[in-house]
Amino acid sequence: MTESISTDDATTLATARSLASRWDAQQTGYIRHRAERFDTIARVVAAICADSPAPRILDLAGGTGSLAEQVLAAVPNGRAVVADKDPALLAIAADLSAADPRLSIAEVDLADAGWAAHPLIADGRFDAVVSSTALHWLRPADLVDVYRALPALIRPGGIVVNGDHLSYSGHHESTLAGIARTDDEAMQQETFSGDTDTWDGWWDAVAATPRYADALRRRDEVWGASLHEAPPKVTLGFHLETLRSAGFAETGTVWQYLDDYVLYGVVAS
Ligand SMILES: C[S@@+](CC[C@H](N)C(=O)[O-])C[C@H]1O[C@@H](n2cnc3c(N)ncnc32)[C@H](O)[C@@H]1O
Repeated sequence: MTESISTDDATTLATARSLASRWDAQQTGYIRHRAERFDTIARVVAAICADSPAPRILDLAGGTGSLAEQVLAAVPNGRAVVADKDPALLAIAADLSAADPRLSIAEVDLADAGWAAHPLIADGRFDAVVSSTALHWLRPADLVDVYRALPALIRPGGIVVNGDHLSYSGHHESTLAGIARTDDEAMQQETFSGDTDTWDGWWDAVAATPRYADALRRRDEVWGASLHEAPPKVTLGFHLETLRSAGFAETGTVWQYLDDYVLYGVVAS
């Protein structure tokens, strides 16, 4: 029997898809080569999952689920959990998941010790944990705790792959810090002089969408004053050493453009 989709459902899906596409365009304005970074992560995860009969993927701080969707495009027999703290981004991800049952949504705060006990996360080991442009929002002590929790969530031979903006030190890497800063500014100038949403413009578009009014109200409650608090930066070395001390057998980088990296840790087989 062919399942029909109601007009209301189709409208909801189209609205969510439009905001998700605008999110991707907006994020790409802040992160040059974001698509290449995602493609790299998806290819590595596809290779790790090649022999898994039912691959499980966890997208940490996954927002609207952009990275999870791209990974699932490369791992068609997989299922992905998009875990995030933001009720508005997750509401969009949830609307998208109505059209793709392989996606599910977990509202968690990664700074909370209990995040890994969420039923969708505790429901068996993952082949791969991925993340993009997100873990630098955690305080270093919370990042350490998240990395320490991961080996128990990933099957032997599985992987964590994290693409993130890890700033150069203005002190002992000042030349490249300057080049990266100028490159970021040039990218933003190129992108936002057209009709691409800025960060604030994108959130205005969400606020103008009645369907997400409740989620936006919850967003204010969940984040409170901490929404714009930027924690201290940590280096690539900090990430890799922390993964190693958390128990990952192999660690390193698979991609780099200036201070944007994709780094990984493999659990021993
Ligand atoms: C720049 S967005 C990136 C979203 C998505 N990974 C992407 O690349 O499109 C940063 C994400 O980190 C999430 N985040 C920040 N702190 C978090 C925390 N403590 N727990 C869970 N998610 C968090 C935000 O809600 C947001 O979705």
